[in-house]
Amino acid sequence: NYDLNCLTIAELEKLARERMDKQTRDYYNEGADDGSTLKENQSAYGKYRIRPRVLRDVSVIDTSVNIFGQRNSSPFGIAPTAMQRLAHDDGELATARACRKAGIVMGLSSFATSTLEDVKEESGENANVLQLYLFEEKNHSIKLIERAKKAGYKAVLLTVDTPYLGRRNLEIRNQFKLPSHLKIANFAGNPDDEEEIEQEKGEIDAEHPMGHSPPQKIRKRRNSNAGWHDGEKRVAPTGPITFHTHAPNPTLSWEESIPWLKEVAAPMEVWVKGVATGEDALLAIHHNVDGIVVSNHGGRQLNGALATLDALPEVVEAVGGRVPVHVDGGVRHGTDIFKALALGADFVWVGRPALWGLAYKGEEGVALCLRLLSDEFRLCMSLAGVTRVKDIGKEYLVKLNRDGF
Ligand code: FNR
Repeated sequence: NYDLNCLTIAELEKLARERMDKQTRDYYNEGADDGSTLKENQSAYGKYRIRPRVLRDVSVIDTSVNIFGQRNSSPFGIAPTAMQRLAHDDGELATARACRKAGIVMGLSSFATSTLEDVKEESGENANVLQLYLFEEKNHSIKLIERAKKAGYKAVLLTVDTPYLGRRNLEIRNQFKLPSHLKIANFAGNPDDEEEIEQEKGEIDAEHPMGHSPPQKIRKRRNSNAGWHDGEKRVAPTGPITFHTHAPNPTLSWEESIPWLKEVAAPMEVWVKGVATGEDALLAIHHNVDGIVVSNHGGRQLNGALATLDALPEVVEAVGGRVPVHVDGGVRHGTDIFKALALGADFVWVGRPALWGLAYKGEEGVALCLRLLSDEFRLCMSLAGVTRVKDIGKEYLVKLNRDGF
């Protein structure tokens, strides 16, 4: 009972592509600058081959892992991605439902188009984590963290790779703008990228043929380049909370931000998302984080950075098992999950494929995405001769040399 139109994540990407408008497709799919890091996140998996073991009883396979105090059916979760209602009317709520039914953890973006409370309600007992952009205006962040705590989120993932926004040229060229019927829901009343001004339309319109139309809220574009580092003197953001003005925060630092966040967020766990070196992994441990996500934001921030799979080993080595290490970026097949785990990751997060599922068929499409990855991972374990996730180690992998052998 597979969807015969869609048996792989690559097919899901294609089907989604046909269903998204240009602005959404570009926003979801592009990477920073020429997109080389985005591509390398994926191609890095092709540098490794699996060394399967045979004649082991693989009739019973357990793909589950414990994470955030709960059982997750497979060692991957859905990474936080902003503005999911661009893909489908049900947006984050559909993702939450699909994740709950599959027993897969969902990461919710601070810049979701559904409130964190509504998402938690759809998730039921399933684990949720909240991705955080810490704002310079700390009060907004404190309020968000308190709400997450109250709603039962298990952890906050502080995104640390976004002191400024990466340069995404299609986003700039398209003058990306959230359609007026959508809201950055966690900061309602603060429409993204726009400010509303009362203005008389001053025209006779079809609905009001007897005269002028009533005063209308006309949406006026704010400076959508606000978050990019354009060499101009930077001013701390004030006013409405928008993605471009508030997500990037160049003032964050280990000493100031992490101890503060640990205190404010407790008892939720505090993770850092966007570490890509052994040095920063050591600093993260020094500051008592609960876990690390090796990430380059899906190639959307610093182009030219190492693919996450290539950065993973040095982080794993530096951490030495003291805290869990997760990785995201470029995971498109169950064998990719297996390879990341063999290189020392405890868990993997998947971003764009869930958005493609959402664009394809809402909740059903996300469920399909989860099922494909879960089934592929299970089969990979079976064919590699491993029955428990914790037994997936380095010995199952070989790295090809430069000539591809
Ligand atoms: C993201 N990502 C992201 N990360 C984050 O910390 N906060 C956010 O709001 C977003 N928003 C976002 C939007 C879109 C459209 C994409 C594609 C990505 C990054 C995300 O959490 C994750 O790191 C990457 O998506 C992983 O790479 P793949 O799986 O998309 O290749």
